[in-house]
Parts: sequence; structure tokens; C-alpha cells
Amino acid sequence: MSTVPDSHLSESSEDGKVSLAKLLKHIHMISQSLRINDGLDSCPVFDEKTGGCPFKRMTKNGTPFVKEMEYKQWLNILTKSAAQDPVLALSKELKEGTRKSHKEAENVHFVKDFVRGKIERNSYVKLLGGLYHVYSSMEEELDGLSQHNAWYRDNMHFPNELRRSTVLLEDWQYFTNSTSVPRLEDASDCTKEYVQRLHELGKSKGDSILLLAHTYTRYLGDLSGGRVLGRVLRRTFSLPEEGQGWAFYRFDLIKSPNKFKVAYRKALDTIPLGTDGTDVDRIVDEANVAFLMNMRIFSEIDYLAGKATSRPNSLSVAIAEMRGRKIEEEDKNKCPFLNPAQKSGNEENEGQCPFPFVLLHDPKQGMERMMAALQNPLQGLQRVIAAPDAFAAYIFVALIAVIIAVRFYNQL
Ligand code: HEM
Repeated sequence: MSTVPDSHLSESSEDGKVSLAKLLKHIHMISQSLRINDGLDSCPVFDEKTGGCPFKRMTKNGTPFVKEMEYKQWLNILTKSAAQDPVLALSKELKEGTRKSHKEAENVHFVKDFVRGKIERNSYVKLLGGLYHVYSSMEEELDGLSQHNAWYRDNMHFPNELRRSTVLLEDWQYFTNSTSVPRLEDASDCTKEYVQRLHELGKSKGDSILLLAHTYTRYLGDLSGGRVLGRVLRRTFSLPEEGQGWAFYRFDLIKSPNKFKVAYRKALDTIPLGTDGTDVDRIVDEANVAFLMNMRIFSEIDYLAGKATSRPNSLSVAIAEMRGRKIEEEDKNKCPFLNPAQKSGNEENEGQCPFPFVLLHDPKQGMERMMAALQNPLQGLQRVIAAPDAFAAYIFVALIAVIIAVRFYNQL
């Protein structure tokens, strides 16, 4: 009781401490008598046979669960402010994670021809027909998602502002001078694959949220580079400013595309996702698949127009290749101090960048390890010694620190 801080007392005086002590003693007495009289000498909620009260249990670190939770909360606050909560910043992860795909998409022959105003009318009609099916399927599934996912309906469903299937049909009818609707049976193979994937995602129970990777790829793209492409298209086919043929590039209900994009990104960042980052990884992966599917449609049009010698290869192979390239890329970006063959005998060190070098390229993980080491210095030291790389890293960093300190001291 002598260590009860003043902030926990109603008044900062000895009287306050005394009355609090009395109160706690009273509660203790009542709880003792309840335990004895009512047989409540075990946790009334959790079953003793399956481990009893979780709050009393010790964690692997040798600390009580409650303490660990407290520490984790602090860790959360610290790492959140240090790394700006990368797990939750889905929009940033999407932008970063699809940067390479975006570059590749810009460099597809069909897209380059489009930008140079060299696209042929026939090819453009094929694109409109393909995109009509893609957007119709995506928007059908999004309407479905809005029926059973209240969060999506309230935060990210903008059918009036964004719907593109209707304007794509208008443009297609303008270019084909008809009143008919493109038939899915006549669509290209890559279009059908894309449509199938969208329906699969929409109908699946656990993966329908991945549809948002497709809305990101298409809608944010249309609101960004799409506007440039709209201007190019008007010039290419001499379309009048107020006329038909380019409704796809106009978002009449969105006054400021930039503000809308900001709001859309914010909404992306509030999607209720798991905190371990796997949902984010899956959505980013699916966005890359979406980019790939779009590129395949472009390349296929080039092939059908005789501008490419081969069709795009099978979708599963293309996805596997894309993921393989990503893993290679990640391997290249791995810590140079990490020895993949390292067997430290300590599971927690396995395959991890030796602390403290991790601080240089992954401050979040570095902070976590530092906190863990501070919390349990003995275990922290054991871990470092168990991993020779980490030990060498410590010595190296310590030496650098000493050299800097000596030089600094000499300059004074
Ligand atoms: C030559 C063709 C293209 C050009 C010139 C172009 C240009 C741009 C520009 C200027 C931005 C804005 C970047 C920003 O706000 O920071 C952007 C964003 C975007 N583009 Fe493209 N783009 C092209 C093709 C594509 C294609 C084919 C797709 C996908 C099908 C695509 C998807 C996106 C997406 C999803 C964004 C939003 C990125 C974000 O802010 O997270 N773009 N593009």
C-alpha cells in the first residue's frame, strides 16, 4: 500500500492512502468469505481442467499474462508512432506493392500505342467490349457484397459515382453503331478469365473482400491515368468535347477526382482487417493479379491485331511467374547481414536479421526486439549469444559507436 501512487488516490494525503487501504481490505475480506461460503475458490469463468484463469497464467517469456498484455500495449503504441502503423495503411501498401506492375502496365505495347494516339478503331472496340464484361462482373459482385457486408456498403460502395459498365456500353454502342450488348460468348479468353476470377471472388465466403483489390486497380486507375487516356482518345478519334464515345473517362458525379481518390484511400485504410498483415498481403497480391489480368487483355488485343507473335500464356503460369519474380525481388531486398543458412539452435532467431542491424532497415522489428530484450535482459542476451551473427553484429555496432565517440571526444 505504501507504493500506491498519488494519481490513484482521491486526494494526495495520508488519509487518502489509509481510506484506500481500508477499502481494499474490506473487498478482500468479502471475497475471502465468498470463496469459503460459496465454494468460489477457483475461477468462476474459466475451467481449471483446461488451464484455468488465463490472467493468472505465465507466458513463454516467464512473465504473467496480464503483464505481457500491458507491455504489448506499450509496444503497440511505440511501434505505431515509429512506423506509422504499416499494417493498417493498406492504400500505401497497395501503391508501393503495385508500383512495379503499374510500370509494366504503362509499358505494354498496346498501352504505349494508345498514349501515342496510334490505337486502331477495331482494337479499341475490342477493349471496350472486354472492359464492359470486366466491369459488369465486378459491379454485379460489388452490389452483392454491399448486400451482405454492411461495412463495405456504408464506406466504400459508390455505385452512382463510379459505375462504369453502363458508360462502357454507351461507348461500345457508339463505336459499333449498334444498340446491341456485347456477348460474353464472343469475349476473348483473357476477358473470360478475368470475369471468372471476379465472380469466384464475389461468390467465395472468405475472399470477397479481395474484390477491393480490383476496385482499387480499376477505379483509382480510371480516376488517375484514365483522364489522360480520355484526352488522347478524343484526339485519336476526333470525338467532340461534349459528345459521345468517351463517357468511360468522365465521372460526371465526381467534382474533384483527386479529393475522391484521397477519400477512397482513407476508406481502404479503415477496412476491418486482421492485425498480422496477412490480409494486407493478400489484397496487395490480388491487386497485382488485377494488373496482370488487365495487361493480358491488352496483350491479347495486340496479338489478335497481328501486332504480337504469341498469345499471353496461361493465367496460372503467369500468376506463378509474377509471384516468383516478387519472391526473387524480396530476396534481393533482404538484409545483407542475414545468413539464410544460419542455424542458431534458437527458433526465435532463425532466419531473422541479426539485431541490432535490423534497426537499419526494419525499425519496427528492431524496436520490438529492443523492447523484448529490455523486458527480459537475460533472455535477450541468451538469444544474441545463441545467434553468432547477432553477436558479431552487436560487437560491430559497439565498435562503430566507440570509434564515433572517441573521434567526437578528440574534436572537443
Ligand atoms: C500509360 C498508361 C498509364 C498512365 C500514363 C498512368 C498514369 C497514372 C498516374 C499519373 C497516376 C497518379 C499517381 C498518383 O496519384 O500518385 C496513376 C495512378 C494509378 N494508376 Fe495508372 N497509368 C497508366 C496505366 C494504368 C493501368 C493500365 C492501370 C491498371 C489497369 C493503372 C492503375 C493505376 C492505379 C491503381 C493508380 C492509383 C495508384 C495509387 O494512388 O495508389 N494505370 N496512373
